[in-house]
Amino acid sequence: MKQITIKILKLKLILKQINHMLNISLVRNQSKIFLKKPKQFSSKDVGKFLFFQFNSGNAKYFFHLDNKMDIRISDTPHYWVAKKSILDDDKGIEDAKNKYVEYLKSSWPSYGLDPSQAKLDAKYQKYLEFIDVTARAGKISTTILLTQIPGKQGYYVVDGNHTCSIASALDLPVQAKVLDFPLAFDQFMRVDEFYGMKNKNMPYQSIYIDKHIVRKGRRDDIYDRLDFLPDEILNQKTILDVGCNMGMNAIGAFKSGARKVVGLEVSKRMVNFATRFAVLDKCFPDVEFRQFDVDNDQLPNDEKYDVAFMLSIHHHLKNYHALVEIVRNNVVKAVIFEGHPNTKLSDYTDFLDAVQFSKIEKIADLSTSVFDRNFSRPLWILYK
Ligand SMILES: C[S@@+](CC[C@H](N)C(=O)[O-])C[C@H]1O[C@@H](n2cnc3c(N)ncnc32)[C@H](O)[C@@H]1O
Repeated sequence: MKQITIKILKLKLILKQINHMLNISLVRNQSKIFLKKPKQFSSKDVGKFLFFQFNSGNAKYFFHLDNKMDIRISDTPHYWVAKKSILDDDKGIEDAKNKYVEYLKSSWPSYGLDPSQAKLDAKYQKYLEFIDVTARAGKISTTILLTQIPGKQGYYVVDGNHTCSIASALDLPVQAKVLDFPLAFDQFMRVDEFYGMKNKNMPYQSIYIDKHIVRKGRRDDIYDRLDFLPDEILNQKTILDVGCNMGMNAIGAFKSGARKVVGLEVSKRMVNFATRFAVLDKCFPDVEFRQFDVDNDQLPNDEKYDVAFMLSIHHHLKNYHALVEIVRNNVVKAVIFEGHPNTKLSDYTDFLDAVQFSKIEKIADLSTSVFDRNFSRPLWILYK
């Protein structure tokens, strides 16, 4: 019996490795997109399509530019470059180019790309050529990809901002495929890490917009967890979310009354997507995210927060000292601490002894994940 179990486990492991090697889920998504029928949209519709590809850099660019976050294609520097270049407006094109280059400079570092002058110039030249070729052809020959967010109006451009900008400036219709949100998420927002999509092909945190799940994840208890917190913990408070993943607790805390929330997360891709959701859910920049390695980076001592969330993060760190430092230097009132599955307070004695909290209150037992509804993740409030 034991040998059969071992053989099954080995087989499962081999299948998992093959899945990773071939990236079967990605191939499956691509074929779903391929099979979708495109629809035609008029150039008027295209101008109203909404910008979707927010990241931690370009979200700030757009916010400072216009102080609003519903960015339509006709509000983007991509569009201005296309429009001014088609009109042969020499003065206008300089201004549009500067805005476009500023946009690229804000956006590229968030993807780890180098915004050197040579690369920015090359990108701009390539775009001008694309505009020119399309103008001469008099038609758009690529199919763009859109999505819709449940409960929200309008179409978001998942892939094809430049093409849409040219179509709108040249008054040309486009062919577009509309992907349902989970498919758009799985194809374009996947993070290939364990706390991304690598476990069971599901994100760790369910993704919420307007408090509703738009892509189910392994944890679907974000708002249930927040509901256990007494009002005085969140109301008008500043919150630090340590190891914030896709940002759902941070956004949730803001929507549940917090005044300002900062999320720290080691994964750059998660920081980008968390920022995107803060923008789409209308809480940027009151909710913002930073790439931050708790093991190696340090917050300035004068950065103070009323409350810190330390939710299922303790065991991921090299040791507990970094958490102790944060509590000592940066937290004023309390820590919301979620234990790992099947742990108890005595499993965190080193951390608790080092800080010497004045009061510890257990407020809930949460389920481990949607695959394991056993109530086994303890949630405490640790008062300073
Ligand atoms: C189990 S998840 C918990 C996510 C979130 N706190 C929650 O409870 O929903 C752990 C998260 O911590 C992040 N993480 C792990 N090591 C980290 C580090 N050294 N610095 C910052 N974040 C880290 C992971 O990328 C992951 O998103």
